[in-house]
Amino acid sequence: NGYLTGLLAPFAGGAEQAPTGIPITIAWGSQTGTSEGLAKKFAKAATKAGLQPSIVDLGEFDPASLTTLEHLIIITSTYGDGEAPDNAQNFHNFLHSDAAPKLENLNYAVLSLGDSSYPDFCQCGIDFDLALQKLGAKPIVARVDLDVEYDDDYASWTSSLLGELSSVEVASDDDDEDTGYNKKNPFTAEVLQLENLNAEESARSTTHVEISLKDSGLTYEAGDALGVYPINDSQLVDDLIDALGFDASEEIDGKPLSQLLSEDYEIRNITLPLAKAWAEASASESLSALTTADDRAALSDYLWGREIIDLVKEHPISFASAADFLAMLKPLAARLYSIASSPKAHEDEVHLTVGVVKYDSLGRERKGVCSTYFSERTDKAQPRVFVHSNKAFRPPADPTVPMIMVGPGTGIAPFRAFLEEREATQATGKNWLFFGNPHVAQDFLYQDQLQQLQKDGYLHQLSTAFSRDQEEKIYVQDKMIEHGADLYQWLSEGGHFYVCGDASRMAKDVDKALHQVIETHGKMSAEEAAEYVNMLKADKRYGRDVY
Ligand code: 2AM
Repeated sequence: NGYLTGLLAPFAGGAEQAPTGIPITIAWGSQTGTSEGLAKKFAKAATKAGLQPSIVDLGEFDPASLTTLEHLIIITSTYGDGEAPDNAQNFHNFLHSDAAPKLENLNYAVLSLGDSSYPDFCQCGIDFDLALQKLGAKPIVARVDLDVEYDDDYASWTSSLLGELSSVEVASDDDDEDTGYNKKNPFTAEVLQLENLNAEESARSTTHVEISLKDSGLTYEAGDALGVYPINDSQLVDDLIDALGFDASEEIDGKPLSQLLSEDYEIRNITLPLAKAWAEASASESLSALTTADDRAALSDYLWGREIIDLVKEHPISFASAADFLAMLKPLAARLYSIASSPKAHEDEVHLTVGVVKYDSLGRERKGVCSTYFSERTDKAQPRVFVHSNKAFRPPADPTVPMIMVGPGTGIAPFRAFLEEREATQATGKNWLFFGNPHVAQDFLYQDQLQQLQKDGYLHQLSTAFSRDQEEKIYVQDKMIEHGADLYQWLSEGGHFYVCGDASRMAKDVDKALHQVIETHGKMSAEEAAEYVNMLKADKRYGRDVY
């Protein structure tokens, strides 16, 4: 503590909330709204601590102001392959460009969000931290990398940062304004209906899930996501306990081990930190070599199709107690699903489009935690849920404006919601959906409803790319190019462009196709097309819900 306390002298010891506290700028980079939410939460805590926070969207942050700022707090997530979220990309480019100035007068802190199940965990925050240091800026506190279950780490980062910046003591995790059901206090819901949207003979399976929100007080908007806490597959729980030689009924903190493993811990994925800890505890040389070498590819080759149960069998550890094993696991995280329904079309209900993950590896059937939870439970699932708002992803506020949506596979989910919304509100704007999946006869998700929407005049263009119905793969981006003239025309009419689905390949290819369409049909250079796309982003007409 004590950092900069000199600056606080004019108002130290005065009112509980010092009106002239040091100004801090809180800049957020967010794809689905989590960092934006934390930025607001942190700003509240900063105000209580007597500081003067201002919040800024990194997409609207003027990098020229960096040389005049004294305190910059960056809260950012990471998307795709360790990339910056859309609204942070320009800032990311700037910090790594020759235009970036020396920043010796800048004090900063970085909070980065990510998911340690992916490689390049929290990479965007790491990049910002290293770039700022390189430019001479000084960290106020060390960067903290938040994993999906971040409450505790967020709270300790907040209190240490505010401790450095202010002399006023505050409870960092002041949630008393949160009422009703939320991430910490999820609603136990009823599942009303489950349906496989693919044909029986399809290699894929996609579960349409209808959940009741009745009496929950939870509300949402088209574009939001639903957080779901799943329960682990009971067979996997049993097999894991067997392999470890533990007793399923042993109680730890008053809960039987089998229940703890079912409800409270991630028991499938091997994260890098887990692999490292496992290598050490098992004294396995081969695992140790894999986790310490720089050869990322060798490690990900090894981890592919492997789960924690394989570590237990291949690199045994003799645990002194079950609690020691639990200490190595991550808490069970909620899964976020883009909501597939409009609340205006389905009162008190929320619908999801859940891709079922299932494959064989090392002689075992591997199953996605949440999709299995929905699709395979013998008793009825009672998911614990909460609404995750995503204000950056909404149908156009203006009902007359055209809407272009690209959503292959389960990426169709929010666009079913957008279309239902336009139908429920009788919005007159034109709507265009690009959808793709392997086979028309087996994988045309929501085909009947889409065709009904066409008849009723709420779906004006439906462009499908069934990738495996012919020799050559056809993808949604090929359809965009094919219909480029119309697509450019819709954009020229003020159309909004949306993408949902796979971030690492599909959304990138779609972005490329968008640039190409604008270049060709807008008769622009590559630079001019890039400007045009930036204009779409700045006008909030380019929405991406990618993962
Ligand atoms: P594929 O699996 O036949 O290659 C939904 O998963 C659909 O998206 C599938 O038809 C899949 O095709 C397709 N797909 C795979 N990679 C893609 C990419 N890079 N861009 C667009 N679509 C892609």
